[in-house]
Amino acid sequence: MLRSGGSRLKRILVTGGAGFIGSHLVESLLERGHEVRAVDNLSTGRRSNIQHLTDHPRFNFTEGTVLDPELVGRLVADVDQIFHLAASVGVRYVVDNPLLSLKNNIHGAEVILDAAVPRKVPVVLFSSSEVYGKGHGGPLHEDDDRILGATRYSRWGYAASKSVDEFLALAYHREMGLPIRLVRCFNTCGPRQVGSYGMVIPRFVEQALDGKGITIYGDGEQSRCFSFVGDVVRGVLMLADHPEANGQVFNIGTDEEVTVRELAGRIVEKIGSDSRLEFVSYHDAFGPGFEDMPRRVPDLSRIHDLVGYRPEVTLDRLLDLTIENIRMERGMPSTSSNGCHATVPAEMPTVAVAMAMSSAIGGVPIGDGD
Ligand SMILES: NC(=O)c1ccc[n+]([C@@H]2O[C@H](COP(=O)([O-])OP(=O)(O)OC[C@H]3O[C@@H](n4cnc5c(N)ncnc54)[C@H](O)[C@@H]3O)[C@@H](O)[C@H]2O)c1
Repeated sequence: MLRSGGSRLKRILVTGGAGFIGSHLVESLLERGHEVRAVDNLSTGRRSNIQHLTDHPRFNFTEGTVLDPELVGRLVADVDQIFHLAASVGVRYVVDNPLLSLKNNIHGAEVILDAAVPRKVPVVLFSSSEVYGKGHGGPLHEDDDRILGATRYSRWGYAASKSVDEFLALAYHREMGLPIRLVRCFNTCGPRQVGSYGMVIPRFVEQALDGKGITIYGDGEQSRCFSFVGDVVRGVLMLADHPEANGQVFNIGTDEEVTVRELAGRIVEKIGSDSRLEFVSYHDAFGPGFEDMPRRVPDLSRIHDLVGYRPEVTLDRLLDLTIENIRMERGMPSTSSNGCHATVPAEMPTVAVAMAMSSAIGGVPIGDGD
């Protein structure tokens, strides 16, 4: 299959395709003319995330698990590309389900990589900034040393599982010639993020809209970089298409940094809420021994130098979009408090569709990620 510009149309498998990032990726791939099949066990993903695609002639969804080698073998048999996103995601979920999460993330990746080997199907594997562990304070580079906490704290199991996934993928690449790309997502946000694993922006927005206290874990001086899902999907697709990305690890996200305290203040101000900031210790929120990173900023030079990627959506815009989306889900007027309509960026039709759809299907749960 060739498209008019000469580039090849592909048959693509997206694991975790009913999840937050996965469903946006599926939409982008369909928009580019590809044939897409998605598999998801709906553990944290939602059928409603892809409901609007079910009648699409080039889309097929299978409810099932990537831990099933027979199913994965069938799904991979005739595809040209795999995006592996299926995983137990987020610190809250992993702390609550440590054994399931480790098995899911490590064995799931192994099953996918095994299935890809015979025909050397290129795999883009989604990893996480969590692999940097405690970090070192500066912008994090892909080749930096990493320090993880003690194994008795299951909080570090997610970081460890994603690290093992990376080692596995790189070993399949080196020893079996499997084409792979590893993407380390930093906090990725936007419509359809589901709400129970600790992602801060939707939680703050909901609390502010409800006039409830804004719950900040720790002293709020920890900083993060929140990137828009449309930017992340665009960057991932740039890497998937670039031959020199093969065998490499890439940070992806934004380097626009904000403290959690400042983030809460900006959300309260944008919404015009009278919510107050409430501080909860990590111990009370996550149990004994929980550690958080004071700073987590990506060094984006590798992805920029190779494919020219820069994030386009600022934090301010991301907040407007998220507030707008949650307002729409609640049937509230679609105007932010500053009087500006939070219109969707013209270069991101995917998300425009997503936002229209999430309101059309009566509300998609918003929540936490990674
Ligand atoms: N959102 C972020 O900020 C972030 C940050 C770092 C890394 N990531 C990575 O990006 C990927 C997608 O995360 P997300 O934020 O969209 O979370 P998500 O929970 O919405 O997506 C994960 C999807 O995988 C599915 N899944 C889990 N186990 C499965 C299994 N065994 N078989 C089939 N499907 C399974 C879930 O139902 C869900 O739909 C994950 O690999 C995650 O580790 C996300």
